[in-house]
Amino acid sequence: MAGLYSLTRVAREVRRDLDAARERDPSAAGVGPLELLATWPGVQALLAHRIASALHGAGIPVLPRVIAYLARVLTGIEIHHAAHVGEGLFIDHGAGVVVGETAVIGDGVTLYQGVTLGGTGFETGKRHPTVQDNVTIGSGAKLLGPIEIGHGAKIGANSVVVRDVPPNSTVVGVPGHPVRIDGRRVEGPDTDWIHLPDPVADAMRTLSTRVAELERMVTELGGTAPPAEAENVHALRPVRGRNPAGG
Ligand SMILES: CC(C)(COP(=O)(O)OP(=O)(O)OC[C@H]1O[C@@H](n2cnc3c(N)ncnc32)[C@H](O)[C@@H]1OP(=O)(O)O)[C@@H](O)C(=O)NCCC(=O)NCCS
Repeated sequence: MAGLYSLTRVAREVRRDLDAARERDPSAAGVGPLELLATWPGVQALLAHRIASALHGAGIPVLPRVIAYLARVLTGIEIHHAAHVGEGLFIDHGAGVVVGETAVIGDGVTLYQGVTLGGTGFETGKRHPTVQDNVTIGSGAKLLGPIEIGHGAKIGANSVVVRDVPPNSTVVGVPGHPVRIDGRRVEGPDTDWIHLPDPVADAMRTLSTRVAELERMVTELGGTAPPAEAENVHALRPVRGRNPAGG
């Protein structure tokens, strides 16, 4: 009876995973379930995880680990067989995704390639993130430690997140900080985590100012024509929009 229940549950979860791939991957629109299962690494990794997780739940040793290992070899996606994965997860592209043993993933979550839900060191017990429903995690993002990612949050590509993330927020940067909450910019002092200082441009600007001053002095002393004005130094990354820190 328990076996039948597990089988039904796995079938339902796989159906939801297939629906999620079709809903969230534009290139999967109109692709049949068999083609998705045969050629979408994220879908394959989830199928393997659903089976490994059911076997693990039934107390079967070794086999869940072997299935997770084979899935990793085939897809480049490593999901620990004991990790809790909710329904309708979509893993786009997939290579390099790592989901640790005590990670918890809610329903309707999207992960891009290179996402890590990992620990910060050699802790034991709960040491991986808990990701609530409808969260999107951009490619290369690293979420480390037993942190909580609030529902509907978006984590920017290549962010490194080591603290809890509020619901319905956008977090970017290293370390990751909220830049939007409920669609609004985060206001207040010290909240501009996007327009990072550009020390190279600052140093060059200082040098350029000093060279221009020296040129002016030489011109005055020698009575020669002033040289063409030195090139302005531009920041490496132009600042767009209003600075939320008010600076
Ligand atoms: C974070 C993300 C989800 C956008 O979320 P959003 O809530 O719509 O936020 P916005 O696009 O309005 O961006 C908010 C600010 O963060 C900045 N930002 C966005 N993504 C960023 C990132 N990954 N790293 C650093 N800054 C980022 C934006 O430039 C913007 O800055 P501004 O306030 O100066 O305009 C998106 O940028 C992202 O990283 N998606 C991942 C997609 C991905 O991995 N694709 C792989 C396909 S193969």
